Amino acid sequence: MTRPDPDNVRRVACVGAGTIGGGWAAYFLARGMDVVATDPGADAEAKLRDLVARAWPSLEHLGLSAGAAQDRLSFTGDLSEAVADAEFIQENAPDWKDLKIEMFEKIGAAARPDVVIASSSSEFLPTEIAAKCAHPERCIIGHPFAPSYLVPLVEVVGGEKTSADVMDWAMDFYNGIGKKALRLKKEIESYIANRLQVAVFEEMHRLVDAGICDYADVDVAMRYGPGLRWAFAGPLLCLHMGGGQGGLTGFIEHFGWTGPEGSQDKALGEVERLYGDYSMAELEAWRDANLLAIEDKVTAEPGQ
Ligand SMILES: NC(=O)c1ccc[n+]([C@@H]2O[C@H](COP(=O)([O-])OP(=O)(O)OC[C@H]3O[C@@H](n4cnc5c(N)ncnc54)[C@H](O)[C@@H]3O)[C@@H](O)[C@H]2O)c1
Repeated sequence: MTRPDPDNVRRVACVGAGTIGGGWAAYFLARGMDVVATDPGADAEAKLRDLVARAWPSLEHLGLSAGAAQDRLSFTGDLSEAVADAEFIQENAPDWKDLKIEMFEKIGAAARPDVVIASSSSEFLPTEIAAKCAHPERCIIGHPFAPSYLVPLVEVVGGEKTSADVMDWAMDFYNGIGKKALRLKKEIESYIANRLQVAVFEEMHRLVDAGICDYADVDVAMRYGPGLRWAFAGPLLCLHMGGGQGGLTGFIEHFGWTGPEGSQDKALGEVERLYGDYSMAELEAWRDANLLAIEDKVTAEPGQ
């Protein structure tokens, strides 16, 4: 049995069905797939079905694929049974390294030999997780963000033995079902987005510890400031636009550059490649339209 094309996956297994696994199950169902879930937790099936039902209105809002239905979810307490016929496996057990290694060993023994096995792990190297898995060339990290049925980003990380074919397949699979897959060039613990978040969290603690502000003030600073822009423009584009008409070049002239040697040319090259076709006036009009869309729609506080 060979792995299906990434746009032809019909049957997916979710191993571990808590917050993230349940969110994945809901998302795969909404894309019109059959989902088999397994989880040894108390009342796991009932909790999963409840999560899927609560996520469903949001998924309907996004648009369901043909044939999508909550009743295409099945549940078994037997891990081997769950993965035996799966055409893709998303593992979502708790983030304990020894457990992940054990899970991948068990999944690898029961699944078809070429089926791609992705871990939702937030931290571990795929090389470590796949250490005891049969056919480790099909093992990857596919790291989502909560809620995994709504946030598009999936970080795709390969280990030392992961094949380039599998990385290509996983990118096509996630992108094909409407996710935004981001491929890391090499493995690193905690991947990209959480490392960026950690930098913010650490600075938050430093500011509060130094008596500059309270934790609530940090939320205000982010929510009503850069967070609005970061919803549609990453740090590189923000730097480029921070330079006004001069773009990133102007920014560097005014504020200097703190990155390591060689990074300035790299950043300038990326800006040219990505945004070189747009005048600053065009970028600013696009920015303003996005800010207005967010400000119009976002409720200021929970409950409002
Ligand atoms: N919560 C997040 O924001 C988030 C975001 C991205 C990735 N992740 C990752 O997703 C994974 C799951 O995290 P979560 O937040 O859903 O945790 P969770 O505690 O909500 O769910 C974990 C589930 O795994 C089940 N489980 C325990 N042992 C198991 C086993 N042997 N086999 C199968 N299932 C088992 C538990 O019963 C539970 O339902 C972790 O690797 C975590 O790092 C979490």
